[in-house]
Amino acid sequence: MLKKEKILLIDPEETVRGVTSSVLKHYAVFPVESSESGLHQLSHEPFDLVLINLPLHQTHSFYLRLREFYKDLPCILLIPFHDLEAVVGLLKTGLCSFVLKPFTQQEMLNIVEESLKKVRLLNENVRFKLLMPLFEMTQSLSVRPKLEDVCSQILNLMIRENGSDFVSFSYQNSLSRQIFHEIKTTPSGNREGLLAFVAWIEKKFSGLENSLLITELENENPDVADRMRSNHCSSLMIYPLISKTHLMGFLICGKVSRNHYFTGNDNELFSIVGNQIAMMLENDSLIEDLEGAHFESLKALASAIEAKDAYTSGHCDRLVEYAIIIAEKLNLSTLERKMLKYGAALHDIGKIGIKDSILGKPGKLTPEEYEEMKRHPKIGSDILQNINFLRQVAPIIYHHQECFDGSGYPGGLSGEEIPVSSRIVAILDTFDAMTTDRPYRKALPVQRAIDELIKYSGKQFDPHLVRAFIEVVEETGLIQ
Ligand SMILES: [Fe+2]
Repeated sequence: MLKKEKILLIDPEETVRGVTSSVLKHYAVFPVESSESGLHQLSHEPFDLVLINLPLHQTHSFYLRLREFYKDLPCILLIPFHDLEAVVGLLKTGLCSFVLKPFTQQEMLNIVEESLKKVRLLNENVRFKLLMPLFEMTQSLSVRPKLEDVCSQILNLMIRENGSDFVSFSYQNSLSRQIFHEIKTTPSGNREGLLAFVAWIEKKFSGLENSLLITELENENPDVADRMRSNHCSSLMIYPLISKTHLMGFLICGKVSRNHYFTGNDNELFSIVGNQIAMMLENDSLIEDLEGAHFESLKALASAIEAKDAYTSGHCDRLVEYAIIIAEKLNLSTLERKMLKYGAALHDIGKIGIKDSILGKPGKLTPEEYEEMKRHPKIGSDILQNINFLRQVAPIIYHHQECFDGSGYPGGLSGEEIPVSSRIVAILDTFDAMTTDRPYRKALPVQRAIDELIKYSGKQFDPHLVRAFIEVVEETGLIQ
């Protein structure tokens, strides 16, 4: 069923209010007796039209006040026939119509319908204006963008198109538990001041299931209204980003201007944006789950291969652990961190194609056997090339046996020609090999292993990355 359009009727005469309401029975009419009550009602909820039947001297001042706060709100003035000239200036705004008293029921209905037609057209224009950027945004969401890009797109859209003075987007990744939170304000906004306010709102509405529009004069949530006033916020829209199983985060928009509130239309569009984002985040999370499961299977395979290659158990897991810490230290992007983690775990997966007799050989390899062993980066890279989400890891695997001075294989690359993640994996792999027991020797103490890394800095390893890794070892004390 279509929602009835809302008309605010301001008329001091109770009988007239009753008659007018009954004439307009097909609309949702809210009758009030004074201009003050009218302004109060308007600050609580949006209306499509205001019908004003006040004494002439009050009509004039009230109308000007109304325009100050609600410049786009259509009005109909009910004017006695002999007073028409006195209000002619008001009628020039285009958003104001009139009915001369006395009038028939039909005249009243006609003018109301005419004014609401204008409202519908106006709303359609607003919607169209908002839907274009929304359409562009949803198109870009469908190609699995970076979360940082999504966030900045949403924040810009809300501020530009919705008249928001600030927008907050928060999200917690269900797998990594990483929290992503960004607040954007208009140039005059106080971003720092808003952080605590937004955190309070998110806690307060942690059980919210649908979009909520709320103003500073809200009766149902007086504590929220108090908080809003003390944070100079006049109107808020809150959207809980919910997946099928849990709350993922919040999208919150606010206005700070007194008496300029979000409308029902704003909230409707805000819900569409929120819904799109929630779907995008949930899809992203499902894909991550699948990738995670696939990665774990490959890691199990890589661990099985290590066992043949005389590595102690847990080599893959330890490399992943080191990779996460050094990625943090080097401030790598989310994608680079993920690829480094995968590269660290799967760097030797190509050994699956090497004969067991070579892999498990206790003594030195013959030149022929060594040449055979040198094929493992290529085999590993070929395996990963065929797996969509690991395609970007293939070059890391391909180059993990390169040396910083160009003496490695398979490409003989040197320095920064070698992908940074390959240079990192080379250090982590050697360090872990040295600091764990092997069938033919005991583990070296950490300090000895570090001395070896330093000794081969600039030859086998990137000196800058060796320094970073040593700092990590010292800072975290993780590696004993
Ligand atoms: Fe290797």
